[in-house]
Amino acid sequence: MIKEIEETTEYLIHKGFDKPEIGIILGTGLGQLINDVEIIHSVSYNHIPYFPTATVEFHKGKLIYGILSGKKVVIMQGRFHLYEGYSLQDVTFPVRIMKRLGISTLLVSNAAGAINLDMKKGEIMLITDHLNLLGDSPLAFKGVSLLGERFADMSEPYDNDLNDQFRSIAKENDITLHEGVYAAMLGPQLETKAEYRMLKIIGSDAVGMSTVPEVIVSNHLGLRVAAVSVITDECDPDNLKPVNIDEIIAMANKAEPQMITLFKSLIEKL
Ligand code: HPA
Repeated sequence: MIKEIEETTEYLIHKGFDKPEIGIILGTGLGQLINDVEIIHSVSYNHIPYFPTATVEFHKGKLIYGILSGKKVVIMQGRFHLYEGYSLQDVTFPVRIMKRLGISTLLVSNAAGAINLDMKKGEIMLITDHLNLLGDSPLAFKGVSLLGERFADMSEPYDNDLNDQFRSIAKENDITLHEGVYAAMLGPQLETKAEYRMLKIIGSDAVGMSTVPEVIVSNHLGLRVAAVSVITDECDPDNLKPVNIDEIIAMANKAEPQMITLFKSLIEKL
C-alpha cells in the first residue's frame, strides 16, 4: 500500500493540493457546507490513482481542496461504504492520503438512526465512542505495521478537545447537541426490530453504516478526529414503521444549517 499512497499523494500535490490542515468527510446532512468553501481545486474520484473505482451511484464523488473559515481544507464530497462492495482498506484509503497531504485533524459527518429514543429525528449527536459491528477492520491486512501500530489504541478514539469545542459552540448557538455511542452495521439493508433491540442492549445510542472505519484509521495515523451524526429516523422496535428514504433526506436537510454552524465555527477556532 505504501507505493500506492506515495503515488496518489504525488498526483494530488501536483494538482495543487498544497498542505491542507484539516480533512472533512461530508456525509448526508452536511453537503451544503461546500457552498461556504472557496474551492481552489476539485478532482473527481474517477481520476485519482488507486481511489476505489466509482459505482454508478458514486460518479459524483470528488476530492476538493480549498479555504474554509480561513483554513486550508481537503474535503471528501461523497464517501465509500463497505456495503458497496469495497474492502475496508479501499474505504479508508482517502484518509491515509489526506494524512500524507498534511492534515492533522479529520472531521466526519453522517446520518444515523436513533436507538436512544431521547433523540428525535432532525436533531444532532456528537459521537463520543463507537461499536464496530462491521465484522472487519481496516487494519486487518498484511503489512499494516509498516504504516503504524497494528494493535492501534482505541481508548479515546474521538478527540476530547475537539468534542469540548463542539459542546461550547453548540451552547453558544443554542443547538441541541446529544452525545452517544455510534454503532456501525454493514447494511445496506436497514435493521430488524430484533437488531434494534440488540443494539440498545449492547450500548448503542445511534446506528449507521459508515464513519467507524475512517475513525479507526485516523487513530492508526495519529490524527485528531471528531464526528457528528444527524439523526434522521427513530429506531423504536416497539413501534417500527417502514423506512421512508425521502423522509430521511428531509430530516438530514432540516439539521443541515446547525451542522454547518458547528463545523464552520470549529474550523475557525482550530
Ligand atoms: N439504520 C437505521 N436508520 C438509519 C441508518 C441505519 O444504518 N442510517 C440512517 N438512518
